[in-house]
Amino acid sequence: KVVAVIFGGESSEYEVSLKSACSVIENLDTEKYSVIKIGITRDGKWLRYNGKLDKIKNNTWFLDNSCTKVMISPSKGDREIIEIKNNVLIHTKIDIVFPILHGKNGEDGTLQGLLEISGIRYVGCNVAASSICMDKDYAHKIVSYAGFDVPNSLAIDHQTDEKEINDFAENVGYPIYVKPAKEGSSIGITKSKNKYELFQGIDEALKFDDKVVLEENINGFEVGCAILGKDDLIVGTVDEIEVPSGFFDFKEKYTLEHSKIHLPARIDNKLSEKIKETAKGIYRALGCSGLSRVDMFVDEKNRIVFNEVNTLPGFTTGSRFPNMLLHSGIEYKEILDKLIELGIQ
Ligand code: DAL
Ligand code: MG
Repeated sequence: KVVAVIFGGESSEYEVSLKSACSVIENLDTEKYSVIKIGITRDGKWLRYNGKLDKIKNNTWFLDNSCTKVMISPSKGDREIIEIKNNVLIHTKIDIVFPILHGKNGEDGTLQGLLEISGIRYVGCNVAASSICMDKDYAHKIVSYAGFDVPNSLAIDHQTDEKEINDFAENVGYPIYVKPAKEGSSIGITKSKNKYELFQGIDEALKFDDKVVLEENINGFEVGCAILGKDDLIVGTVDEIEVPSGFFDFKEKYTLEHSKIHLPARIDNKLSEKIKETAKGIYRALGCSGLSRVDMFVDEKNRIVFNEVNTLPGFTTGSRFPNMLLHSGIEYKEILDKLIELGIQ
């Protein structure tokens, strides 16, 4: 099978994608797959890259002279990429796209839409599930409608009346999380302890997205659940994030300087089973397929409260998603095989 791995992207999680993509490319079985590497630069240019992984790791891949301009043929049924080399078009058939992109234009349904139009199969969630999961406001609303607990939240934009924000703050109390609706890796998120910080946080979040979600703080801890599959779901061991500082921000996520990921989570079997069932219910309610990492909180009364779903979660060999599956007996390479099998179905 010819697998086109797409990495990078016009997203603030560009660097994270490079790391995830290197792990994926390194672990795709070369006896089964012929791998084509397509990078998207930070400013949205598509290039086929034929060089070594080191240059993806150090982000110099796009300077390599192996790079050629590439596009996906939008014509249904062509299922091919088109390279432009010395003004000549080179057509190459592909069987599946493996998008290893996080955030905007990769995880949010837009790339998935392009692939749908082209009739090209791809790994992961479809257009609707990708875009709903990317938007924390819509995801909350659907998950709540499906009967799961969600934090109290308020979606706001540039026009929202200050009174509405003050009323919300008074109602839920501080601290309040301020989140751009469609970002990843905690980018643009702040935890506000008072009104001044709240409004500062809103200004900050509005730099990343026109819609911002204010969210009550759930006292407890965060857990995650890796799910693989479409009809029959495989669920990995539940993990737990211990964050002494109380906020798992971008730096903490990727350095784990003060935080710790416990795998398995330090909870009993009964609660762990309940979390897995809840995660599966959320995954189905949002229409996910292929893969997703469902993040939830467990509050002081062991209530499971939805946080968010990442349809293309961090995917290095050290990332939470593959590690949770590994803990339940599924190796990284097997995850890749399974995802390609599900995508091609
Ligand atoms: N958004 C990052 C990549 C994650 O969910 O792991
Ligand atoms: Mg996320």
